[in-house]
Amino acid sequence: MIAAGSAPARLGPRLRHLLELCPEEYPVADVGSGHGRLALELALRRPGARVYATEARPGPARELRRLLGSASPVRVLEGPGLEPLEGLGCRGAVIAGMGGHTIREILQASPSVAQGLDWICLQPMQDWEPLWSWVTTTGWWEPEVTSCWERSRSYRSLLLRPR
Ligand SMILES: C[S@@+](CC[C@H](N)C(=O)[O-])C[C@H]1O[C@@H](n2cnc3c(N)ncnc32)[C@H](O)[C@@H]1O
Repeated sequence: MIAAGSAPARLGPRLRHLLELCPEEYPVADVGSGHGRLALELALRRPGARVYATEARPGPARELRRLLGSASPVRVLEGPGLEPLEGLGCRGAVIAGMGGHTIREILQASPSVAQGLDWICLQPMQDWEPLWSWVTTTGWWEPEVTSCWERSRSYRSLLLRPR
């Protein structure tokens, strides 16, 4: 189970930066949540609000459920990309910790879900340029770029709002 403590203690600088970037507009989903730490902080920040954490495949989804524990306020969903969010009425989504190509493919695969969100936070681990180029070409969103450092490495993040 994820350890108790304050959010700064539980999250490293990269995820703390993302948490601060996420608008407080719920329900929200952390897509490809992995360890679930960000999803948990999103849930603790707004008790009672719906927070989803997704994983594409059964194994990682099972591990995510185990890490969060059965009493977690986070609801784990299984399925690729934005597909599990269909019909849930999410206002926001975070997609972080994957490559820029994968993030772009996730957004491209579910245009109606992506364009139905009030905000999307993206933080690719690599391949920033193709993601940025696609986002600006679609013209669907107003992008805001921020950056942070963790262990001598810089990470750029994008907050997208519909135009
Ligand atoms: C490196 S982890 C990142 C975890 C966390 N989001 C972070 O930024 O620290 C990437 C996660 O994305 C998941 N993933 C990869 N492709 C995915 C997809 N198409 N849909 C949902 N999850 C996906 C992987 O299973 C993995 O758990």
